[in-house]
Amino acid sequence: MNVVLLGAPGAGKGTQAALITGALGVVHVASGDLFRSALKGKTELGLLAKTYMDKGELVPDEVTINMVVERITRDDCANGVLFDGFPRTLSQAQALDEKMAGLDRAIDKTVYIEVPEEELVKRLSGRWICRECQVPYHEISSPPKVAGKCDACGGELYQRADDKEETVRERLKVFLSETMPIVEYYERQGKLIRVDGNRQIDVVSAEISGVLGVASA
Ligand code: AP5
Ligand code: MG
Ligand code: ZN
Repeated sequence: MNVVLLGAPGAGKGTQAALITGALGVVHVASGDLFRSALKGKTELGLLAKTYMDKGELVPDEVTINMVVERITRDDCANGVLFDGFPRTLSQAQALDEKMAGLDRAIDKTVYIEVPEEELVKRLSGRWICRECQVPYHEISSPPKVAGKCDACGGELYQRADDKEETVRERLKVFLSETMPIVEYYERQGKLIRVDGNRQIDVVSAEISGVLGVASA
């Protein structure tokens, strides 16, 4: 199964992906995580992406599409992919459909996690991310068991530079103008499922598992 997780910055894409990829038996492919790993490795791609990410702007389509296509054509993605943060423009969505068709695959479902704007800002200001596996935590709603350490891998937690309120507001603006059109794109294809993301993490996760037909974590 190939699924797209859609949602504004802070909607809970990474949180839900960490909870459901195992049950889905697919690979989690998050464009933002790929850019941050590239930056950690100080590659040209990572350094280029940083110039956009720091401003809350989108990395150009061509660069982003090439990076994701390279990732999904690897063998481990043959059983399916859970896309997170990609596609987020109409041309990315079209390029993904074309690439998948060429691989004799298709996007089966798109889950749109809806959360009001003020809640998004609150979530991002309290977010901590694992430096190693990029699993997100929140200082109030989902703190790690040991302060400053990832439950999953023991990695050190840090706050993303683009989670400053000013950059968050810019990312939200970009989401509305660039990414909202793809909600309609998937709706027209009859693949869109809306989920109310403004509830507890486990409640949201149970609903997503239900609509995707997998046992909840
Ligand atoms: P990316 O890394 O994709 O960031 P984003 O889309 O802005 O989304 P976030 O990761 O901020 O939010 P999330 O939905 O994953 O929320 P999370 O689960 O962490 O992209 C970053 C940048 O990279 C972009 O700005 C752009 O520059 C570039 N980029 C990436 N992809 C690109 C593309 N395709 N094209 C071009 N450029 C691209 O949760 C947030 C917080 O809330 C956490 O603290 C979590 O613990 C908490 N939380 C989650 N769920 C709940 C809940 N139900 N209740 C309470 N708290 C919750
Ligand atoms: Mg994320
Ligand atoms: Zn970790």
